[in-house]
Amino acid sequence: MASRSRWWSPSRERRPARRDQPAMKLERESLALLDEALQSIEQGFRDLPDAPVHVDRAALREAVLAAAERMRDNFPYAHPLYVGQMLKPPHPVARIAYAMSLWLNPNNHALDGGRASSALEKEAVAAIARMFGWETHLGHLCGGGTIANFEALWVARELAPGKAIAASSQAHYTHSRLSAVLGVPFRAIAVDARGRMDLAALERALAGGEIGAVVVTLGTTAAGTVDPLPEILALRARHGFRLHVDAAYGGYYTLAGNLEPWARRAFDRVAEADSIVVDPHKHGLQPYGCGCVLFRDPAVGRIYRHDSPYTYFSSPELHLGEISLECSRPGASAVALWATLRMLPLVRGGEFARSLESCREAALAMHAALTTDARFAPLFPPELDIVSWAVRADTAGESSRRARRIFEQAARQGLHLAVATFPRAMVEGAAPVRDWDAADLTCLRACVMKPEHCDWMSEILARLDRAAAAA
Ligand SMILES: Cc1ncc(COP(=O)(O)O)c(C=O)c1O
Repeated sequence: MASRSRWWSPSRERRPARRDQPAMKLERESLALLDEALQSIEQGFRDLPDAPVHVDRAALREAVLAAAERMRDNFPYAHPLYVGQMLKPPHPVARIAYAMSLWLNPNNHALDGGRASSALEKEAVAAIARMFGWETHLGHLCGGGTIANFEALWVARELAPGKAIAASSQAHYTHSRLSAVLGVPFRAIAVDARGRMDLAALERALAGGEIGAVVVTLGTTAAGTVDPLPEILALRARHGFRLHVDAAYGGYYTLAGNLEPWARRAFDRVAEADSIVVDPHKHGLQPYGCGCVLFRDPAVGRIYRHDSPYTYFSSPELHLGEISLECSRPGASAVALWATLRMLPLVRGGEFARSLESCREAALAMHAALTTDARFAPLFPPELDIVSWAVRADTAGESSRRARRIFEQAARQGLHLAVATFPRAMVEGAAPVRDWDAADLTCLRACVMKPEHCDWMSEILARLDRAAAAA
């Protein structure tokens, strides 16, 4: 199959490995560029006297190769046959830019410690805000989706003290946990058969008048479903709560041209949220440690107000530490993200958007294939790129046990899936079992998050078929 892009061209790699050859080739062509980039940085400091760093090369080699050997004890996360957890390899541009910046190791807390990388962060975060339709915003990078959501919920608490936070029962567990950390009551809202927040249940909860913020998930972690944002916006107009969108996993999908109308209409209204979280370290091709929180009203910056007499000395310009809860943060994350956006701008129809569309195509193809397999009962068509399916059996208990056996057999076949437990209400529609002897069902789940998955789908299905037969 012809490669559709400059960056993902898996067809070359698809021959089955011979035992004496490494099966998984890691991209190394970009390494020469690292040296070139470091020489460029050196040019910026050529007036300084040399201060050589001496490293014991033998000890260095021994330590690094020992670590490399330990790294073999991993699942092959970067390989297309890994469809287990929500993992996506960073783009080579992100890897090289991140590594390159480590020779200076800037700290994006204050301009004093990370001047260039703070500027790159502001530009990159503004590009993400524009992707959602915000020309003005307040926002920054942070450690990941948990910290990003924490800041959004903390701001919500500060603006409505004493009020509760509501999120669906399929929202990421972080929301109930963070609410407890913040000392805020949490209300779990029931979901419908697709795992989307149930509007009637939300309306009942709102009637009590105690909810100050509602978390709307655009792409739930387990099933990848999209909450009904337009309807929840209508409820906000009536009940006046703060609306936070957790799009840690799904946010970049706003660029995709092949969403179902349900998801499209939600993403089209995302600019009306009060805050948004998206994780560049999920679909944004970044190494871990890169989340992003955005606020529509820059005035919430006052909530972050604090003094730091020992760091903010170089200029009266905004130091990112003034608008973030974390103090030290890797400037490398900003450098990597900025370089990635320069190569793959966040535009509809662009190469990055096409890569997401390709993930979705793969997910839809997988769902379609599973519906024709009598052994399986797919839950519902994927809204983004997560596919979940139950294993047919007489009882729920037996179905769950079979799912686990197939999961293990698939791993032996080199296909790495995940299992996820769903409540009966979300699985019943697919009618996988006759006798519900349990309240929930363990299903198989695939995160089809790599653009290569389109080309690899027949191989994935062939291995799943062998795993199911062996189980
Ligand atoms: C919707 C959603 N929110 C929040 C998180 C937490 O993000 P992180 O793991 O980056 O802390 C996740 C993680 O999968 C997620 O899917």
